[in-house]
Amino acid sequence: MKYANIREEEIKIKVRDDFFSEYDYKILGNIDFCITPKNKNPKQTQLFDDINLLWAEAKTGDYDVISMFAQLILTIGKARTFDKTLPPAFLGAFDGKKIAFIPYNAVLDIFSLNDFNWNVTSSNQNTKEFSIIRERVQKSLDKNDYLYDFLKDEKELKFFIKNNLAKATEAGKILINKNNFVPIYLRWVEQVKPYIDFNWEDGKKQNILDNSFFLADLFVDDKGTPVIEDDTPISENLFVVFRNGHYEIAKENLKSLFNATIPFKDKKPYEQFWKKYKRPPLEEFQNYILERKDLLVPQDIRERKGAYFTPRIWVELSQKYIADVLGEDWQDEYYVWDCAAGTGNLLAGLTNKYHIFASTLDQSDVNAMHERIENGALLLHDYVFQFDFLNDEFLPKSKGGKLPDDLYNIITDEEKRKKLVIYINPPYAEHGNRSVFAGEGEEHKSSVATKSKVYSDFNKIVGTAVRELYAQFFLRVYKEIPNSILCSFSTLKFVNSPNFSLFREYFRVRFNKGFVCKANSFDNVKGKFPIGFLIWNLDNKEIINSVSVDVYEDNANYIQSKNFFVIEKNKYFINWFRPYIDRKELELGSLHIHSNDIQQQNVISITSTPTKSDILQKTFSYITKNNLIEVSMYYAIRHCIEATWLNNRDQFLFPNEGWKTDLEFQNDCLAYTLFSNNIQSQFGTNHWIPFTELEVNARSKFESNFMTDFINGKVKIENQNVDLFSQQETLSEFETLKGLSTRLQFSEEAKLVFDAGKNLWKYYHTQEFPSFRGVDSNAVGRRGVYNVNASLYDIREHFQGRNEKGKMKNKSDDETYMKLIAELRTALKILAKKIEPKVYEYGFLKE
Ligand SMILES: C[S@@+](CC[C@H](N)C(=O)[O-])C[C@H]1O[C@@H](n2cnc3c(N)ncnc32)[C@H](O)[C@@H]1O
Repeated sequence: MKYANIREEEIKIKVRDDFFSEYDYKILGNIDFCITPKNKNPKQTQLFDDINLLWAEAKTGDYDVISMFAQLILTIGKARTFDKTLPPAFLGAFDGKKIAFIPYNAVLDIFSLNDFNWNVTSSNQNTKEFSIIRERVQKSLDKNDYLYDFLKDEKELKFFIKNNLAKATEAGKILINKNNFVPIYLRWVEQVKPYIDFNWEDGKKQNILDNSFFLADLFVDDKGTPVIEDDTPISENLFVVFRNGHYEIAKENLKSLFNATIPFKDKKPYEQFWKKYKRPPLEEFQNYILERKDLLVPQDIRERKGAYFTPRIWVELSQKYIADVLGEDWQDEYYVWDCAAGTGNLLAGLTNKYHIFASTLDQSDVNAMHERIENGALLLHDYVFQFDFLNDEFLPKSKGGKLPDDLYNIITDEEKRKKLVIYINPPYAEHGNRSVFAGEGEEHKSSVATKSKVYSDFNKIVGTAVRELYAQFFLRVYKEIPNSILCSFSTLKFVNSPNFSLFREYFRVRFNKGFVCKANSFDNVKGKFPIGFLIWNLDNKEIINSVSVDVYEDNANYIQSKNFFVIEKNKYFINWFRPYIDRKELELGSLHIHSNDIQQQNVISITSTPTKSDILQKTFSYITKNNLIEVSMYYAIRHCIEATWLNNRDQFLFPNEGWKTDLEFQNDCLAYTLFSNNIQSQFGTNHWIPFTELEVNARSKFESNFMTDFINGKVKIENQNVDLFSQQETLSEFETLKGLSTRLQFSEEAKLVFDAGKNLWKYYHTQEFPSFRGVDSNAVGRRGVYNVNASLYDIREHFQGRNEKGKMKNKSDDETYMKLIAELRTALKILAKKIEPKVYEYGFLKE
């Protein structure tokens, strides 16, 4: 067996390196082995046309191929991954010995099976669903024998990957329909048009515009052969055709004015582009597309200084989501009002100008939109108007107001209102500052945001939430345009922030569908947090409890789905920890307590004493023998999960009871904390040495052996926290539970951390120190002095030294030390990975 006795994660890495090194690799939701072509230009935007070559399931050892495929297919069907990104050419399954492939098309129809329960656990082989899929896979495998032993069939496998997999990229293409042909055209203008060798000015004089070339491109088959029959409406409507690899003017009377053939300056961009879309468009849309050739006009996006734009990829994706919820014909069936339109970017790509209203605060933005209309933007002059949504009254123009009468009639008609989509990317920061998203948790300078009419209308009803400008937009829509559909970009605060609890009481709506993307993919936004696009039905009055959204990364690549939760009052992590807080007397050290979400993890620290501000603001707890375990849990839980843009606003929660009896988990947290705190012996006795003098060859006795005594069960903790446990539990049960009368048992992962830590301590105690006590001339601190009581921090300081500004340097010249500290960090990472799933299991975080 090629990959024997190694873990699944390592097999994946080895298979990737040995066979797929020429491709990109990623994890896609629950599909943990996904191969895509190498993206040579990561900046290029790829809206839901990310090309996938392979989605595969991996196992260790010699596993049953069919079961692996069945599990993979259940995973895909459950997440409906194919709705969010292009499916691959092949599905795969591999273990330590072999790899097998099935063409995706061979199992495609499984995903549309009626009455199929996709919610079964994909790894459970005993379900009816698992058997159905097994059977289907079996059939496909019988027909297509793509099974390779990594050792015996290495050559054939490499040949297969090179010739079948890589070349099959065209298998999953986007179908062109009436909702996406305009965005596809806009992208074509950017990516293909510049490479056509044509004099556009000459063309314009004869009304031959770029859209003629785009249509010529559309009406060919995959091989580039025209699919138009003579004397059909299609052929009559095409001014340009694509034939024999180049363009030709199709209109007889114009032929003489142009060259007989119009070639490419470079044909590659064209070829690349059309790999992503299936041509010609679906038959039922062909005539529509030709009739609406007028929609194919270049987007005139003029970036105005300071103006804030929704990036094109998110505009397109948001429109796809609306179409998913409201149906393919939504633009004809619904009206759209963007009441924070700016210069109208969000409306780009929409096609039915008779159904679109756009209003915004600044007259200059309205003027810009009017100018754009003259240049072909798909908006109606009279439906674009100045309107301060947070102050102006809903009054029709005919009665001296600002609203177009048509819009007023919709707003005031209960039935028509149900067909009104409020489609916005509202301002986020305080009024007047449109370029910045409000940092979450940040209090706004209340000045302008608190001056609006909506603010005074709602401030008593929804409390502090009303300071958010976007919340003000939501509130007015909710109250004055009831039953409409709200499709809006915003932060997720109104779902998961405690400050929005009154808001959520009031704002009762049904969530339909949505996605999140990185806030800093928007212009001028620096913060690393998620921005959502969520679709709400205001017709259904429901309390928001949670929302499940799709997550997209930079190039609109779907990566996974994620839940955002509303958290009940008093159910935060800090509510759990509060009873363990001790502010009576300094004993072992101090824990800095701060906030409740992942983003602030770096400020959670353990030091020898609290800071002045900690004492003033009561943001600390002394660490004592009685709360050491809970403090370690607080510390390790807050640190073990890396903060990312997606999770960093996730709130830690009041856990379930599971942790109480899980001594291994508690001790893992202790081990993690012992080897990552900032205790310094200069500020008092160091009680945090997790080894005996003998174990680390110390040159004299330690001042304190508290930690080894504690680990050995020699420290008796007092019963102060017993009442925190359920009433049935007696003190002795509690003590047994905590294992305090016996030596603490550590997991293998924790032991590795102890071993790595011990090597570091030992190495410190072997160092030669100058015979005098004094300060190293190169650094501030006590580097030159042997300190038998050295803490982890002291040891780091000894080897790394400090710079002129007094800050500890990142590295040391001592290679052995660098190796030892790196080993400790790796061991800590492994331990953190072990703690992480328990954090979710015990409800300290929700997934
Ligand atoms: C985040 S920008 C979105 C612009 C554009 N719709 C887009 O998606 O690119 C928000 C817009 O709302 C406008 N705005 C701010 N306060 C407003 C108000 N009270 N009434 C109407 N529009 C407002 C700002 O001028 C800004 O153009």
